[in-house]
Amino acid sequence: MTPDLKIVATADGSNTIFNPQVGENYHSRHGALQESKHVFLKAGLEYFIGRTQAAAVSVMEVGLGTGLNFLLTADYCTASNTQLSYTGIEAYPLSQEMISQTGYEQYVPPAIWQAFMDNYEASMQTAVKLNAYCQLQTAHCQLLNFQSDQQFDVIYFDAFAAIHQPEMWNDEAIGHTIQFLKPGGVFVTYAITGNLKRMLKGMGLQVQKVPGAPGKREMLRAVSS
Ligand SMILES: C[S@@+](CC[C@H](N)C(=O)[O-])C[C@H]1O[C@@H](n2cnc3c(N)ncnc32)[C@H](O)[C@@H]1O
Repeated sequence: MTPDLKIVATADGSNTIFNPQVGENYHSRHGALQESKHVFLKAGLEYFIGRTQAAAVSVMEVGLGTGLNFLLTADYCTASNTQLSYTGIEAYPLSQEMISQTGYEQYVPPAIWQAFMDNYEASMQTAVKLNAYCQLQTAHCQLLNFQSDQQFDVIYFDAFAAIHQPEMWNDEAIGHTIQFLKPGGVFVTYAITGNLKRMLKGMGLQVQKVPGAPGKREMLRAVSS
């Protein structure tokens, strides 16, 4: 799954990566940056912090990819003096060279970008501190092989769409993911389907339909009780 990856522009001017083997982009073609901000930052992280007023937050991401969601989260947490413990699960880590071609350094302060680039490889071995607020660990494994004693406040579920990778959206994968969500924690993803809603309700979560990022009418947020 590391074929001829290509950098492509999306409608808001930010880049994404096209994976020809999967036949899909890493982000919405309507706008990578606006999708990341809308779905994960606003509907996920900011929603959780707004509810809890937490001064420390733990985030687990399924599909770290380019690190865009991490970069925006690290920027938000650093600017708001919020402690961040971030674990990104990624079965097929991108090369640093590929990440550097995304142009994402323009969306975060230079110190955040530099700390991410400097620590990306090391984060696959151990949790690394990027600055006084942010810690990153990259779990280089398949989702179903991810194990942790930790549970998380917020889960960003950013797998390729079910039409391309149905195994990431079945009961087993979603159940495996949800075991890492704390009580009161928030799960967000850009997609919403009847099947996903049913699965999450069946796992005891309260499912919410939220306006989607441009190009998608709705997205899904679920809160554990
Ligand atoms: C939609 S892209 C994620 C985009 C990413 N969040 C970003 O901002 O660049 C999906 C990601 O899931 C990863 N992936 C695919 N299968 C996986 C699996 N079984 N376990 C973990 N990650 C997987 C892909 O390599 C890819 O990076």
